[in-house]
Amino acid sequence: MSAKTSAIPVIAIDGPSASGKGTIAERVAGALGFHYLDSGALYRLIALAATQAGVALDDEGSLARLAEELEVRFSGGEIYLSGQIVTNEIRSEKCGIGASRVAALPAVRAALLERQRAFRIFPGLVAEGRDMGTVVFSDAKLKVFLTASAEVRAERRYKQLKEKGIDANIRTLLLELRERDERDSARSVAPLQKAADARELDGTGLGIEEIVRQVLDWYRQKAAGSRHL
Ligand code: DC
Repeated sequence: MSAKTSAIPVIAIDGPSASGKGTIAERVAGALGFHYLDSGALYRLIALAATQAGVALDDEGSLARLAEELEVRFSGGEIYLSGQIVTNEIRSEKCGIGASRVAALPAVRAALLERQRAFRIFPGLVAEGRDMGTVVFSDAKLKVFLTASAEVRAERRYKQLKEKGIDANIRTLLLELRERDERDSARSVAPLQKAADARELDGTGLGIEEIVRQVLDWYRQKAAGSRHL
């Protein structure tokens, strides 16, 4: 990484499925005028592309090639895969479970590393996922580990799916969330875990605005601290 790139600030927000990372990261990026990376979308896109191409979700070599060649564009709030809008399609539970499976494969993670780091563009980046603070942007200026109880997360996912007109059952969602947490935390490469220097934020009883304000406060404190060095 060049000295110029390392000077571009990154806020890393990691946490389990449906902890609210996406909404929080987007709002924080908006408030600061920073770029935004939804790293989970990349794993979801690989799962979708693999299903479309008939590639098995445990064929590590083919999936890594797919990850390298993936033609993705994030533009105007939409996500394009090979020119097709797949914004809603990748949010299905099927894609989420597929993403969690392909994300456990080391070659797939390695293939996505540079693609993720390329989002680090002036004036700054808010990146959310599972390993933003531990692996991809280990030098992030601020690292936040956002949690919430499994029940609150299942309820949130249920509402999101309903709003999109996707049928869902809250008990099944809760079971799937727990399974996904287990797989994301137990894998050998880049497991979901709090970075040693991350601030933990339990959003269970908090509203979106409160969480956003807390993250912005922490970031401004950090930024002010480094100006005084
Ligand atoms: O955040 P999400 O639910 O869209 O992520 C989908 C899956 O992708 C999740 O189960 C784990 C995986 N993932 C990952 O392993 N590393 C990331 N940085 C982001 C997501």
